[in-house]
This record gives sequence, structure tokens and C-alpha cells, in this order.
Amino acid sequence: MMKKLVLIDCDPGHDDAIALLLAFARKEWDILSVTTVAGNQTLEKTLHNALAVLSYAEIKVPVAAGYAKPLLRKLITAPEIHGETGLDGPALPEPNFSPEPVHGVRQIIETIRKQNEKVTVITTGPLTNLAAALIGAPDIKEKIEKIVSMGGAAGVGNWTPAAEFNILVDPEAASFVFTSGIPLTMVGLDVTNQAIMEHDDIDWLKRQDRKIATFVAELLEFFIDQERVGVKGAPMHDPLAVAVAAVPEVVVCKKYPVKIEMGGNYTTGRTVVDFNRITGEEPNVDVALELNRDLFFKLLKGAILSYG
Ligand code: BDR
Ligand code: CA
Repeated sequence: MMKKLVLIDCDPGHDDAIALLLAFARKEWDILSVTTVAGNQTLEKTLHNALAVLSYAEIKVPVAAGYAKPLLRKLITAPEIHGETGLDGPALPEPNFSPEPVHGVRQIIETIRKQNEKVTVITTGPLTNLAAALIGAPDIKEKIEKIVSMGGAAGVGNWTPAAEFNILVDPEAASFVFTSGIPLTMVGLDVTNQAIMEHDDIDWLKRQDRKIATFVAELLEFFIDQERVGVKGAPMHDPLAVAVAAVPEVVVCKKYPVKIEMGGNYTTGRTVVDFNRITGEEPNVDVALELNRDLFFKLLKGAILSYG
């Protein structure tokens, strides 16, 4: 059977790192490329972290660095959550391979263009790279099966009262992607803040006495209890987007018109979901609203244990 073609754009980041591990455990996927963007930390650091995590897990895939800043705004990073390196906690060895000598946006465009089948794009960071690719090469739209994006919130935000971090960092890029006409699933805080790893889960991971399980436990020890954003435990934001791309039943979605606030005094970066269909606009986004927690953790823990 033909493998599902997948492309991942990310900003590792603790939960991005776990998302990569979950993605590369999917045997039915052919992950064509990983691209990195500035977000949780600077581009230099998110690129280094992606290479280091993939090297440590003995995964070989083309990796390319994309945008070092949002399309129009100054970069916001998240050292409060991910530390100065973007992946504080575990002591990872240096990467054992180099990035592709090509800009990440070019990598996205060329990788998608040369496929005979459509590609699923998973994003776990700000949408800068994907927006730039779609602006520069609108022809790739028809080659994208769907976008599964960790970002946004129909309810409260985590970086401002109104906005989730990935959307807040580059709202113009998010707006471009959300209104591109490509099928898009928004895996936002409404579900990711329910996908919580607890201290007990860290103990369980440590008891497995395996290299990757221990690495994930060390990531979680740093990432857990994010009082800055009102979460107890370690929310698996980015792994949930990967899980939704793999097994859509892991969440219940409903399609609504969704727009991105780009100009608010207090609401910049808000994903405005028209629940009551007041605007009369066509629904453009599958909004994930309910989580099947057991199914998600079965997938996640199974994936972690699939590494030697
Ligand atoms: C998102 O922001 C980042 O800090 C995480 O990696 C995740 O992608 C959650 O708001
Ligand atoms: Ca992320």
C-alpha cells in the first residue's frame, strides 16, 4: 500500500520534539521532510534542536531551516516554557547530520511539487514557512491533502488572554493559511490543554528503562507545570496534532468559519470561531473540540515504546 506522504514544520520545543517522535513511529507514513521556523526559540536554536532530537532517535530525514522571524512582526520566543536553548532539560549529544543547503520555504515548495500524490502538512509552530510557501508557489495548494495545525483556541488563550502562542507569533501568516482554501484542522488549546501528561506518567516513562522513554521523561520534567500559562501538568499540544493527522478519531471536530485577529488592542492572534454562524460565511476550518484521551495516550505511549 502507498504510504501517506507527510511534511512537518516545527519549532522544537519540548512538545515539538515529542511530536517528531510520535510522527516517525508511524510506519504507514513517508515523512518527506522536516522544516523549522523561529517560535519557541530563535531559528538557529529550533534547527539545532530538530537535528539533535532526530539524531538521538537515529532518524534520517531531510531537515531545512526556514524563516528566522514572522512575516511582518518582531519575533516573540518562549524561554519561560522551553528555556534558553528551546529544549532545556535533557543533555542531548550534538547532531550527527547537517541541514539541507536550501531555505526551508524552498524545501516545502519543491518537496510538495515533485510528489505524484497529495501531501499532508503538519505544523507545530508559527505558520510563517507555510504561508510563505503558499504565497510564493500557489500551485502547491492543489497538491496539499490537508493541513493539521497545532494552534489557536476557540476558548481562552495561553500567551495572552485571547491568543494561543503559535498564532500570536505570526497572525498574518496564520490568516493566510487559514483562509487559503486548503482543508485545515485546527488542533487548538481547547483539546491540547486536556492532553496532559502528569508526574505519574514521568515515573512510568522512567520505569521503562529505554533510551527514548527516558529522554521524553527528561523533557517532561522541565516542561511540566506551566504556571505562566495556567496549566498543571505537561500539555501535549504538538503531539496531539500529529495524532490527529494519523488517527482523526482522536478528536471530535466541527467545521466553522474561523478568522484570525490581526489588529486588536487586546486580541491580536485570536482565532475567532463563528460558532453561531453570525457572519454567514462558509466554514473553512475543522475545529477540534473534544479529545479521546485514552486513544491519544495509547498512541503516544505506544509510539514512545516503539523506539528501542
Ligand atoms: C504551542 O506553543 C509552543 O510553545 C508549543 O510548542 C506549542 O506548539 C502551544 O501554544
Ligand atoms: Ca511548537
